[in-house]
Amino acid sequence: MIELKTKTIKEILEPVAADLQELDNRLINEISPSSRALCSILQDIFAAGGKRLRPALSFLLVKAFNQDIDEASFLIAEISELIHTASLVHDDIIDNSLIRRGKPNTNSKFDNAVTVISGDFMFARAAVNLGRLGINEITTLYASVLEDLCDGEIRQVERKFSTAVDWDYYYSKTYKKTASLFEASTKAIAIKLNKSKIEACASYGKELGLAFQIIDDVLDYNSTTKTLGKPACSDLKEGQVTAPLLHCLEQLALNDQAAYTELITIINQMASGNTEFSTRVLELIESTGSINYCKDLAKQHCAKAITAIEFLENNKYKTALMELASWVTEQ
Ligand code: FPP
Ligand code: MG
Repeated sequence: MIELKTKTIKEILEPVAADLQELDNRLINEISPSSRALCSILQDIFAAGGKRLRPALSFLLVKAFNQDIDEASFLIAEISELIHTASLVHDDIIDNSLIRRGKPNTNSKFDNAVTVISGDFMFARAAVNLGRLGINEITTLYASVLEDLCDGEIRQVERKFSTAVDWDYYYSKTYKKTASLFEASTKAIAIKLNKSKIEACASYGKELGLAFQIIDDVLDYNSTTKTLGKPACSDLKEGQVTAPLLHCLEQLALNDQAAYTELITIINQMASGNTEFSTRVLELIESTGSINYCKDLAKQHCAKAITAIEFLENNKYKTALMELASWVTEQ
């Protein structure tokens, strides 16, 4: 049994720090569209940082299999990060959000046309990389991720401020908008290495992705804008009934009709344009223990992720993958 202790994300990713640095160099310096403006926007976006979690999963898995990180591994890592970053650039337009990773985002500096095309260019570069990789199964895998992202996002748009949501809806949307890309980042590596454990590797990525989004939902309610690097308490303002609010609604419906009606009224008022975030929502979420419930839910997914990679032989890369799963719920 490997003993796990709490480390920072930087410490956990140390075994692949040099590879992540090389990835950053490639993202910042080697993607050079002929338009100087576009080139500097992309450099600006990638230089703004980010945890590079999805590439880290790919690199750690390659090394956990005792393989070297080669050009194909870099292409896969880049594809995941390009798709992830592009989807955030587009998401910030959809959400009218002006901050990302603690800094003013592309949306805040350029008009919609330029911002949309910057995201499009990253998607296009991911497609070029898939062509260079030349592994049909991986091309299909990432093409499905793109479908999932669009499908997950449109469902969020369609269900804005809808309180008629349940856990089936939540999980289906969360898989599509978040876990699908995490899953691809580990599954693609297993496919490329021709491993028999493709589904186990995919399961690790998927479960981690689900946990990551549930914790992202929790952090929106119990962090500050400064620590988040993006506006706090913004999910409900954007009309999203995420995991803590879904649990709270369920509990109030069962146990406290008056408070349930009060919460529905607040949500309906926000839907009709009252953009003030009511701290009463936080009180109700607190009263139903929804933050702790969601943290436990995320822990269950992390436990499943850890179980999925038990088959790997013990080495520091497997340990890092396991520590990463614990870190997700301890943020
Ligand atoms: C962040 O969600 C957004 C996503 C994870 C996916 C967004 C997907 C799209 C915009 C569609 C992508 C388009 C193509 C062509 C594939 P969030 O708003 O919950 O997270 P945040 O709080 O970090 O903004
Ligand atoms: Mg958003």
